[in-house]
Amino acid sequence: MDFIKLDLSKIFGFADRDKVYALKRKAEAANKALHEKTGKGNDFLGWVTLPSSITEEVLQDIESTANKIKEEVDVVVVIGIGGSYLGAKAVIEACSDTFAYLKGNNKAPHLIFAGQNIGEDYLSELMELLDNKRYALVVISKSGTTTEPAIAFRILKEHLEKKVGADKARDLIVAVTDESKGALRTLATQKGYKTYVIPDDVGGRFSVLTPVGLVPLAMGGVDIRNLVRGACDMEDKCAVSSDFESNPAALYAAARFALYQSGKKIEILANFENKLHFLAEWWKQLYGESEGKEGKGIFPASVDLTADLHSMGQYIQEGERILMETVISIGKVNHDLLIPKDADNLDSLNYLSGKHLDYVNKMAETGTMLAHVDGGVPNIRIVIPENSPYYLGQLMYFFEKACGISGYLLEVNPFDQPGVEAYKKNMFALLEKPGFEEQTKKIKARMQ
Ligand code: PA5
Repeated sequence: MDFIKLDLSKIFGFADRDKVYALKRKAEAANKALHEKTGKGNDFLGWVTLPSSITEEVLQDIESTANKIKEEVDVVVVIGIGGSYLGAKAVIEACSDTFAYLKGNNKAPHLIFAGQNIGEDYLSELMELLDNKRYALVVISKSGTTTEPAIAFRILKEHLEKKVGADKARDLIVAVTDESKGALRTLATQKGYKTYVIPDDVGGRFSVLTPVGLVPLAMGGVDIRNLVRGACDMEDKCAVSSDFESNPAALYAAARFALYQSGKKIEILANFENKLHFLAEWWKQLYGESEGKEGKGIFPASVDLTADLHSMGQYIQEGERILMETVISIGKVNHDLLIPKDADNLDSLNYLSGKHLDYVNKMAETGTMLAHVDGGVPNIRIVIPENSPYYLGQLMYFFEKACGISGYLLEVNPFDQPGVEAYKKNMFALLEKPGFEEQTKKIKARMQ
């Protein structure tokens, strides 16, 4: 098997090679601190060795639950938000046939996500669909108390119980949560749901390789063993014994940090394959929550290309010069599609006839990269040999490791997210949640 490749050659006009390599010692020390648990947030470092520590027993248990559910249902509704949602969503979108559900040839239940918003219309329309579907629920919440998924679960649990009866519903609900704490754990124990544990030392955004990601993905038909194997191989490649030059996570962290120091405050993750849209959403949470604190951090943004070249392309080319761009490029696509010859050639496309669509896409990718570099946007290129669970496993672990190193280069705690509490406090005060009486008074006064 190959490894994903990191190409930094198009950043050196913006951040000198010396500046990047000057970070060698710091990046290596950061990597060591992650492994030796000597840095900030060291009680949340379970993810560092997660791929190699997943046991055969856990994988078999997940696969056996998934196989049972697969026989019973056509749809699995996965309820969760943030780190309890984005990893599974990213991998299933990347790995599945985009139109399998519409084609009606799903090889596994179709995954639908809920609890990642509070939209009344979204959930109502979902329930109308579920009225006529055989479905199961996977509810995922580490804290077990997050409002959005808790509301969605309350509503969908009631729907399922009414539809199939409480006894059958119990067999169709799987909960992924803390080992002992939280409302979801209490509920799961009382109701007798099948449960999986999210380890204490793994935060939400680093949890895709725990049951948080693996349970829904196995139900959705993803080869989770290959996902884990890819992550495991990347864990080896980014080990402390791997020096700076051969550790892609350390190099990526150093490159983006050097660019940040040179004034590039926004990193755009770009793909040329729409299936990677949610990988970028996962990446944005990973980097945004890990780095954006204490008035510091690169703002993570994303674009789907070439679509967004017809919208965001203008800004990237000529707007404020505070951008860097990281492109995820897929080496070999999974299908063959040639552009046909047309006798009339009214669209003047015959010069492309006989060419693969991917050839055109790759030329768009190269042309875009050169245009953006010429326009003042440094370019980091990450090539994944194929879009497959194995390489997604590599890629996700690579991003996680680089994120940990980046946080330490930035001298923040990359494993907390104190800022996400602010909206919750206001929302609870406005909703007049018991215990928030004082805040309710204050916030209502502000609203007048
Ligand atoms: O990264 C994080 O910790 C957050 O995004 C959480 O994953 C998110 O808030 C959901 O939390 P929970 O799993 O406790 O419901």
